[in-house]
Amino acid sequence: MKACYDPRSMKTPDKPSGELVTRTVAMPKDTNPNGDIFGGWLMSQMDLGSGILASKMAKTRVVTVALDGMSFLQPVRVGDTVACYARVDSIGRTSMKIPVEVWVQRYMKTEQVLVTRAVFTYVAIDQEGRPVAVERG
Ligand SMILES: CC(C)(COP(=O)(O)OP(=O)(O)OC[C@H]1O[C@@H](n2cnc3c(N)ncnc32)[C@H](O)[C@@H]1OP(=O)(O)O)[C@@H](O)C(=O)NCCC(=O)NCCS
Repeated sequence: MKACYDPRSMKTPDKPSGELVTRTVAMPKDTNPNGDIFGGWLMSQMDLGSGILASKMAKTRVVTVALDGMSFLQPVRVGDTVACYARVDSIGRTSMKIPVEVWVQRYMKTEQVLVTRAVFTYVAIDQEGRPVAVERG
């Protein structure tokens, strides 16, 4: 039987991989009942950031079609600077796989910590929402 994907088995990198696509500060309105930052808010930051990269690559509208391996490694706290890094890992005919990492700089600290990662898949679409080929090069 094929082994399940387990993000805990992946080595933790010591620096971000990919280009900086978004950067913002985590605010009190984004917290969950524990007082930490809500995971859904982080996912939307990742979707926004990787979507910017996907549409830049495809030069057309794109939609998110899948999200794999989402792993929340460390909590994000109010005041942390939250940066999303993304890179195009592979391009199919109409789809693109984009690994995204979220690194935070803790409030009043200097080092960056990897808090979340996932792989987003986008599909390039036309005005009617139909898949269109991604032009390479
Ligand atoms: C994305 C969408 C246009 C694809 O339409 P479709 O009829 O499934 O198109 P296809 O079967 O031709 O697949 C298109 C590409 O998507 C890929 N794909 C489709 N479903 C996928 C999935 N679940 N995971 C990964 N890739 C997927 C296919 O492999 C194909 O890639 P390729 O062209 O590089 O080989 C359609 O599923 C859609 O509109 N989904 C909703 C997207 C959306 O609203 N996102 C926002 C959610 S809030």
